[in-house]
Amino acid sequence: GDVFTFDPGFTSTAACDSTITFIDGEEGVLLHRGYPIDQLASKSHFLEVCFLLLYGHLPTASEVEDFEFRVTRHTMVHEQMTKFYSGFRRDAHPMAIMVGVVGAMSAFYHDSTDISDPWQREVASIRMIAKMPTIAAMAYKYTIGQPFVYPRNDLDYASNFLHMCFSVPAENYEVNPILSRAMDRIFTLHADHEQNASTSTVRLAGSSGANPFACIAAGIACLWGPAHGGANQACLEMLKEIGTVDRIPEYIARAKDKDDPFRLMGFGHRVYKNFDPRAKVMKQSADEVLDLLGIEDNPILQVAKELERQALEDPYFTDKKLFPNVDFYSGIILEAMGFPTAMFTPIFALARTVGWISQWKEMLGDPKQKIGRPRQLYIGETLRDYVDVENR
Ligand code: CMC
Repeated sequence: GDVFTFDPGFTSTAACDSTITFIDGEEGVLLHRGYPIDQLASKSHFLEVCFLLLYGHLPTASEVEDFEFRVTRHTMVHEQMTKFYSGFRRDAHPMAIMVGVVGAMSAFYHDSTDISDPWQREVASIRMIAKMPTIAAMAYKYTIGQPFVYPRNDLDYASNFLHMCFSVPAENYEVNPILSRAMDRIFTLHADHEQNASTSTVRLAGSSGANPFACIAAGIACLWGPAHGGANQACLEMLKEIGTVDRIPEYIARAKDKDDPFRLMGFGHRVYKNFDPRAKVMKQSADEVLDLLGIEDNPILQVAKELERQALEDPYFTDKKLFPNVDFYSGIILEAMGFPTAMFTPIFALARTVGWISQWKEMLGDPKQKIGRPRQLYIGETLRDYVDVENR
């Protein structure tokens, strides 16, 4: 019969070649189109990084201006889509709403679902990058019972998102530029991460020729899990549950116990075996934001720092090369900004959308790609005859 390799979890199988993102897990290197993530996080901004991921080069001044204009022009969602929200229970998780609403975009934007047309692919890409903050902010507003806030096109991408989340009618909401910068940096640090589970899901869904909105909805669903994007919510909830520094050893002991399914959330990575370069920038950003807000003695941050210290001194974690990942510090920043934990993963999803789309576009343009169809090792029953119900 056919010969193929057995590789559950795809730990050693490359399913595509790509020019978008390079990771060296041993060295803690992450490059987008060749540019190191720390340089992009400190010198660039999210929409410029979006352009870079989508088109392969840093934009000129006029290119970035044009790109920002095109994204801004698409930030509104069709008014009729607001009806989708009211169909959800008010205590629905915003990720559940995101999966539903983004999937439903296929039913609204028929004019950008023909994937054989490069112009439609382009319009769908811009629409999704533009509308994702609006969709996420609306999911948040819905679950807290406040009216939706329309996008403001005079604001930059991150400030507009903060505005749509925190602005309340009849109150003047001023976006703090330092928080907006921190938000932008969180978006940038999550923009792409090569063939992770959700991106592979988007590629697999897209390989059948499904429309881009459906593919991104599949990616959002995959990202939700606590081993992937859901780790940021799970991590902050864990830090809160630990609560005080004296309880850390108990949780470390649980994480090490083979009979206890508990894991330290925000620790470990399939590819990074030294450090996660995104976590380094995120940690620095967390310090800055808390400093700005005057909450240096935040108990959650104290638990986080002490947990990190103790874990990094413990041979269990060092031998298995388990280090804090991007999700370890992002939650602290988002919590300080005023986001509830349920919004952490939707924020990851909106930032990762550009990565998903870039990878989807790359796949469609690659003649080597065909429908994704893994094989299996069948280990079930061999041939046997059907038994009538009265004889079983
Ligand atoms: N706490 C305790 N032990 C751990 C942890 C952890 N967080 N992560 C891995 N291990 C142990 C695991 O028990 C296993 O031990 P052994 O070899 O004795 O069986 C060993 O380390 C290797 O783990 P694995 O599950 O085989 O590794 P993986 O590459 O399949 O999983 C991971 C990677 C990220 C899913 C995993 O480290 C994990 O579950 N971490 C916690 C969740 C998390 O923070 N996820 C976010 C990942 S980064 C951003 C993102 O993708 O969203």
